[in-house]
Amino acid sequence: MRVVIGADHGGFPLKVELVPLLEKLGHQVVDVGAHAYEAADDYPDFALAVARTVASGKAERGIMVCGSGVGAAVAANKVKGVRASVCHDTYSAHQGVEHDDMNVLCLGARIVGGEVAKELVTAFLSARFSGEARHKRRLQKVLDAEAKGS
Ligand code: RB5
Repeated sequence: MRVVIGADHGGFPLKVELVPLLEKLGHQVVDVGAHAYEAADDYPDFALAVARTVASGKAERGIMVCGSGVGAAVAANKVKGVRASVCHDTYSAHQGVEHDDMNVLCLGARIVGGEVAKELVTAFLSARFSGEARHKRRLQKVLDAEAKGS
């Protein structure tokens, strides 16, 4: 699948570790930066780039890495059509897709190390929305709220 990845300075070293995994798993990678460590860069720039790439359909899933994952999720969720969350356990990383159709995974590089992050990414990308009626009903309520703007 096409996967977009981004990171600010807090997540940059972890992004460098994750890109080869994505390629090894057979995904097409869109890297929206940062392309070099820059201590003064701002997570919204990259989180919004990841989110807009997913929302536009240029990628099916997104991964955004910052220091905690929190700012990344807050920013990414401002883009219509994006369902982003911080997941630092593998259950949430796959269940968030299966039940909630999460399409952007946010990681905190100051919280999880490379090996755990690789397991999280693998769980996230292996999961598919279940399509079960109760999950579709709940998702529709979220989409209705998004459409109304509140
Ligand atoms: C950057 O220092 C840090 O604030 C950022 O990466 C992220 O953790 C925000 O949520």
